[in-house]
Amino acid sequence: MRVISVVNQKGGCGKTTTAVNLAGALAADGARVLVVDMDPQAHATLALGIDPDETSENLFDILADPELQTPLADILIPAFERIHVAPSSVILSALEQKLAAEKDEDRTERLSRALAALPSEYDYVLIDCPPAVSLLTFNALRASREVIVPLETSIFAVDGVQKLLETLALLMDRIGHDLTVRVLPTLYDGRTRYARETLGEIRELFKDLCFDSVIRMNVKLREAARRGVPIHVHDPRANGTLDYAATAIELAACPPAELQAGTTPNEASLSSEPREVVIRFRDTDAADVRIAGDFNGWIPDRDVKSRIESEGPQRVWTKVLLLPPGTYEYRYVVDGEWCTDPENGDQTAGPMGQPNSVLHVR
Ligand SMILES: Nc1ncnc2c1ncn2[C@@H]1O[C@H](COP(=O)(O)OP(=O)(O)OP(=O)(O)O)[C@@H](O)[C@H]1O
Ligand SMILES: [Mg+2]
Repeated sequence: MRVISVVNQKGGCGKTTTAVNLAGALAADGARVLVVDMDPQAHATLALGIDPDETSENLFDILADPELQTPLADILIPAFERIHVAPSSVILSALEQKLAAEKDEDRTERLSRALAALPSEYDYVLIDCPPAVSLLTFNALRASREVIVPLETSIFAVDGVQKLLETLALLMDRIGHDLTVRVLPTLYDGRTRYARETLGEIRELFKDLCFDSVIRMNVKLREAARRGVPIHVHDPRANGTLDYAATAIELAACPPAELQAGTTPNEASLSSEPREVVIRFRDTDAADVRIAGDFNGWIPDRDVKSRIESEGPQRVWTKVLLLPPGTYEYRYVVDGEWCTDPENGDQTAGPMGQPNSVLHVR
């Protein structure tokens, strides 16, 4: 069972559309899929034809109960062939307050525990997250090994994405396991030069962590959501059907372990053994220093060993990376601010024009 959260704190970037229609495409290919609607807006529930006001129980009843007396299986609703839904309701927005007195450790692992107790009848669990880093998103990430980040190609802003990756890295620290993160370009309008350029920038920045598939702008996706059916049911020939089918094939072909092996930056480097690379950052004021680059999908400190030492008045952050020979781009994240390496004069312009430091591994 692959548990995948669809996450982006930015609203309206296609999270729900992706969760629902990827579920549709996977199910059309024969997979058994559970859609977990973790958003109090209940858009995924609605988009799968279920009226949240007419369900007797929803995810709140599961997540609010420390004893997990109601099994998750009891609230699941069969929506379409091979697609079940764990429905949401506006009351989910009260969860944070309801669990305010509980320890983080307990209140963030509710969904994970509920899923673990499910009979293993699903190939995929797709979790639709709200546009916020809340207790609900945290529960989703703790339950997941994989994350899909839909990125709107019409308004790509590198700062917003770096912020998101930083948040994911912090969350990974707190949830205690790695997440395989992949980016899915959405709302793509290939007729505009801006969108084409933005897509190029996204691909350049995320390399193998970006799906090859792109979700084009397609009004049929909006119609399908309004009708309460996945796009392949609404119109099997729509671009939206084709795009989510292609994304489903890619996803199925690439389970997390293989994905991680595929994140090295270029083909040539795959033939060479990785080696340990040590770089240092010195500062007197900084409290937190992380490193992000194309080698770790620009997720600060992912796959990096860190050590902090004192050298007189200075603190020294030692970063140990395991990298195959090749040329890499990176930046430091110093107390949340992204900057180049002050001890490395070798810089290049990144895809968005911002300077990146360059690391050569021979
Ligand atoms: N590829 C697309 N083409 C056309 N319309 C789309 C496409 N993807 C999403 N939409 C529409 O854009 C709107 C926002 O999409 P969606 O609800 O999936 O975003 P979201 O990230 O889940 O939003 P929120 O953050 O509010 O949960 C919806 O009306 C949806 O139908
Ligand atoms: Mg949504």
